[in-house]
Parts: sequence; structure tokens; C-alpha cells
Amino acid sequence: MSIFTASSTAPVNIATLKYWGKRDTLLNLPTNSSISVTLSQNDLRTLTTAAASEAFEKDQLWLNGKLESLDSVRTQACLADLRRLRAEVETSDASLPKLSQFKLHIVSENNFPTAAGLASSAAGFAALVSAIAKLYKLPQNMSELSKIARKGSGSACRSLFGGFVAWEMGELENGEDSKAVEVAPLSHWPTMKAAILVVSDDKKDTPSTSGMQQTVATSDLFQHRITEVVPKRFEEMKRAIAANDFETFGELTMKDSNSFHAVCLDSYPPIFYLNDTSKQIIKLVHRLNEQEGKIIAAYTFDAGPNAVIYYDEVNEAKVLGLLYSYFGAVGGWEKHEEVAAYKKVTI
Ligand code: PMV
Repeated sequence: MSIFTASSTAPVNIATLKYWGKRDTLLNLPTNSSISVTLSQNDLRTLTTAAASEAFEKDQLWLNGKLESLDSVRTQACLADLRRLRAEVETSDASLPKLSQFKLHIVSENNFPTAAGLASSAAGFAALVSAIAKLYKLPQNMSELSKIARKGSGSACRSLFGGFVAWEMGELENGEDSKAVEVAPLSHWPTMKAAILVVSDDKKDTPSTSGMQQTVATSDLFQHRITEVVPKRFEEMKRAIAANDFETFGELTMKDSNSFHAVCLDSYPPIFYLNDTSKQIIKLVHRLNEQEGKIIAAYTFDAGPNAVIYYDEVNEAKVLGLLYSYFGAVGGWEKHEEVAAYKKVTI
């Protein structure tokens, strides 16, 4: 019996221009393009090992040591695409083992507490796709693979790249042009840092897929966001990143987080992701920026109350100093009364 294995890691990415809304739920095609920053490999990431063998009887996945189902339509869509591409490789070289016909055993681990309320599906699907692509020795580049990860979880397509990443929404109905591309590598802005404030480790109030459906179907503001606001911001944010312009980057990031939460609130019934602590963090960052007379810190919130605060390393003492003084100098993932956990991450 032979076993073939390969491992890969993918970090969490945090959107600075949010994806919110699907035009095709099955293919995970978005209603707007988005931009994100992928955290470093040392911080929040998923490590996945994929093994294929003729001796395996069924596809199986262990997530953080627990056997999980692989039956979801989304996971199945990713596996089917990867197997189809492997079959093409095998057709072109008949000497290769027929891995496309073998069952897979997949072992996945997050290096951060899953209970921390941080979306792990992006890193999870990106690591799954990249580990299997490696195992299958697929010739496709990251942008091509990102279209497969996208079918697992939309935001996962961006985690295949490090640094600053755009997900171009595309126009085609089959999604072949809806893919992630690199805006700038990590090395382009080595002083960019992020602090993650885990405000609550509760499960999401409204899962992103149903939240998006609710917004698309009911929010009037949403149309304005996807037609007027985001397309302009998408270009402005790419320019700000290219110019290492933190002030513009920060302003756009905060405005887009607010715009996303505004369309959630404009949904009917409304969707609330921010809690009182989140709102205090927003006020605190604005107060800091006002005191400084310029933007040195920028908050962003996904589909939950946890904050990510971007800042440039030169301002680390000021930004973290304020967070420390307000939330207490907690390190690592230690518990804190108001902020359940706090972690400073490098990008
Ligand atoms: O890909 P999903 O279903 O986890 O949706 C992610 C949505 C946001 O995190 C709120 C925004 C984004 O662009 O990541």
C-alpha cells in the first residue's frame, strides 16, 4: 500500500474592503470586488495535510483532532474540481499514480482557538485547496486555484496569497473570471501591523451566507453600496496601498467597515454584528486619530463584534499604549474582562 501526502498552510485574511452579497450562491460569486490583508504565517493560520491512498475507503477530514463531515456541497465542489484537474495531469502522463481515483484523508489544524470567534473558514478552505493541489502536483497558479477555494468560502480565495490581495468579482456567469490577485506582496509594506481584539467568542449572530441573502433581498442602501461606493473605493484603496499611504488606506478601511455594517442594519429584519464594546473601540480609535491630527489607526469589523486594528509600526507605542490603557495589558490569548482576548499580530 502506498500513501502520498502533502502539507500546506494558509493564514486568515481580514478584508479592508468588504465582500458582502452573492450574485450566485452555489458558485460563491460576489456582488462586489473586495480587498484584504493576509496575516503572516506565524499568526492565525490553518495547517493542512492531505493524504491519498488506494487503501482509503472514503474521504475523511479531521479538524483540530475531531472527525468532521466532508459532505457539504461546498467542500464537495472543491474536491470535484481538484480531482478533475488531477485527472487531466494523469491523462497527459500515464506513468503517474491515479491519485484522482483515490480517497483522501485530510488533517487540518488551526493555531488559534476556534472558539475565539474569528472566522476560520477562509484559512481552512485555502489550506485545503493548496494542500491537495500540492499533493496532485497541479500546474495551476494561485489565481486559478483561488477560483476553487472561492467555491468553499468566498473569502477563502484571498487567503491563497500573502500580503495585500484583491478579489476581482468578475462578470461571467460561470465564475471563471472571479478570482484573487495580488495587489502587493507582504514585503511592499513591512511596517503594516494589526491588532486583533477578540471582543466575544460567541458564535456569529447571523451566518454570513444567510446575512448576505437578507441584505441583498431587503436593503435599499445595498444597491448604492455596490454600484456607487465600492467600485470607486476599490480603485482608491489599490492606489493607497501602492503608495504606502496609511492615512488614505485607514480612512477607506474604516469607512468601508461602517458601510458594510450600515447595510446590515438596513436589512429587514436588521442584522447586528457590533456590540457595545465594538462601538467603544470605534470611538477610541477616532479619539486617538483626532488627538494625533491624522489617521494612525484604522478599525475594521467582519460579521461579528471582534475588532482588527491596522496601524503602522512607527505608531505602535501610541496605538497599543491606548489599547493597553483601556483594555489592560493582556498578552497572547489571555482572558480579559471586557475584551475576551487580545492579540497583536504582525502582517
Ligand atoms: O466568505 P465568507 O462567507 O466567510 O464571508 C466573509 C464576509 C466578511 O468577512 C464579512 C467580509 C470579507 O470580505 O471577508
